[in-house]
Amino acid sequence: MSMIEFSEVSFSYPNETKALQDINLFIDKGEFVFITGSTGSGKSTLLKLLYRENLPQKGEIYINNHDITEIPRYKIPFLRRKLGVIFQDFKLLDYKSVGENVSFALEVTGHPLDKIPERVDMVLEVVGMKDKKDRLPEEISGGEKQLTSIARAIIHNPQILIADEPTGNLDPTTAENIIGALDYINSRGTTVIVATHNETLVKKFMKRVIALEEGKIVSDKGQAHKIPELVD
Ligand SMILES: Nc1ncnc2c1ncn2[C@@H]1O[C@H](COP(=O)(O)OP(=O)(O)OP(=O)(O)O)[C@@H](O)[C@H]1O
Ligand SMILES: [Mg+2]
Repeated sequence: MSMIEFSEVSFSYPNETKALQDINLFIDKGEFVFITGSTGSGKSTLLKLLYRENLPQKGEIYINNHDITEIPRYKIPFLRRKLGVIFQDFKLLDYKSVGENVSFALEVTGHPLDKIPERVDMVLEVVGMKDKKDRLPEEISGGEKQLTSIARAIIHNPQILIADEPTGNLDPTTAENIIGALDYINSRGTTVIVATHNETLVKKFMKRVIALEEGKIVSDKGQAHKIPELVD
């Protein structure tokens, strides 16, 4: 079974917008996948299903063989520890420095406190933000805020990294650096899923591309991915 599997998943918002319809999807461990499609096609909704921000009305979603649509509310934090999520608007705490924003994400999970500074330095090094560790968010650029939010998302070593439009509002070079950082993290074994409508970047990085239109998958191309094994 694939690491992530959507089976006949449909989701509607309370206003009856059918945001996703009959989604079937397999993503293997270690893949890098772009989710593309125009505004309103369902990209963010799809990602929200993965971290249980949305619960589908129909279908099953498996992560590591567990149907995450079945897990009780109190277990959602355990699911989220397997995931790292990067938001377009960063969601950094403005009264904490770059380093504190990143370490805070580990402190709240009960990680051994004495091990935290070393780990913070390591992930800030990965995203190239170590020299700006003591700056406040207002003292860094938009691209640097996004790099900080990537560091925060990987601090707990998640199996899956989810990014929703991580390059919105960034200039082309910075945007490329952001995807480059995600590509590097992917090369170290993390499965990466990126929702974007930045066609130029999608072309440049030559990864698997899943395209959505009006809540449906209309194409799935690029990097070879295994066809699920048939079980009889
Ligand atoms: N909270 C909500 N309540 C009601 N409808 C919503 C909500 N969020 C999104 N929608 C609707 O669901 C559909 C899918 O939205 P979604 O946010 O997943 O699109 P998207 O592909 O991420 O778009 P964008 O590229 O603009 O971020 C759209 O029709 C949108 O209007
Ligand atoms: Mg969106």
